[in-house]
Amino acid sequence: MPPGDASESAHIGQDTQVRGNQARGSAELTFDAPRIDDGPRLWELAANAGALDVNSRYAYLLWCRDFAGTSVVARDADRLAGFITGYRRPQAPDTYFVWQVAVGQDHRRRGLARRMLDHVVERLRPQGVRFVEATVTPDNKASIRLFESFAEANGATMGVDVLFSERELGSGHEPELLHRIGPLD
Ligand SMILES: CC(C)(COP(=O)(O)OP(=O)(O)OC[C@H]1O[C@@H](n2cnc3c(N)ncnc32)[C@H](O)[C@@H]1OP(=O)(O)O)[C@@H](O)C(=O)NCCC(=O)NCCS
Repeated sequence: MPPGDASESAHIGQDTQVRGNQARGSAELTFDAPRIDDGPRLWELAANAGALDVNSRYAYLLWCRDFAGTSVVARDADRLAGFITGYRRPQAPDTYFVWQVAVGQDHRRRGLARRMLDHVVERLRPQGVRFVEATVTPDNKASIRLFESFAEANGATMGVDVLFSERELGSGHEPELLHRIGPLD
């Protein structure tokens, strides 16, 4: 089986208790790998996030089944506060590609996306991940800053280049700029 598939998630999906930001009192978020029954909640978060291409519920269910080991959800009691879905590139398994990041509106600007990214990358480092990639549209300041911040914290450089152009994406979609961070130490 290729690296990064669901077979690995059983070993690496251990929960981590993460104390929430002061602004949320003593609330604790739990980070772990998504389960299949999280699929509809990932879809709902993506649909409400804004700035994301929303895929079908089927896509999120399938993701939770087959790429749980390379994804993370932040649980706030019985709700999802945020998620990151991603995979190791089949042709470059040292590269973790972030497919989507979403944080619920009431959890934003409290470092949650950064902590989820740190969490999932730390989980994958022992498997040889040394680069992180994501595509971001040029107007998505929050997302650009998220990846800049991650690169800075890791003392790594971040290259930016067009991955998919407006012409390729069609329907007036802005270009998707590939942000490539690494190598991580
Ligand atoms: C992008 C998103 C995931 C960030 O989540 P978040 O939990 O609020 O981000 P964090 O609090 O971890 O912030 C990470 C960094 O980005 C900065 N940031 C966050 N939101 C920002 C905003 N709206 N404008 C500018 N900077 C912002 C933070 O200050 C922090 O930088 P720092 O480390 O220098 O302090 C969230 O805004 C979101 O869900 N957006 C809609 C979906 C989306 O655009 N996903 C990404 C597509 S690739």
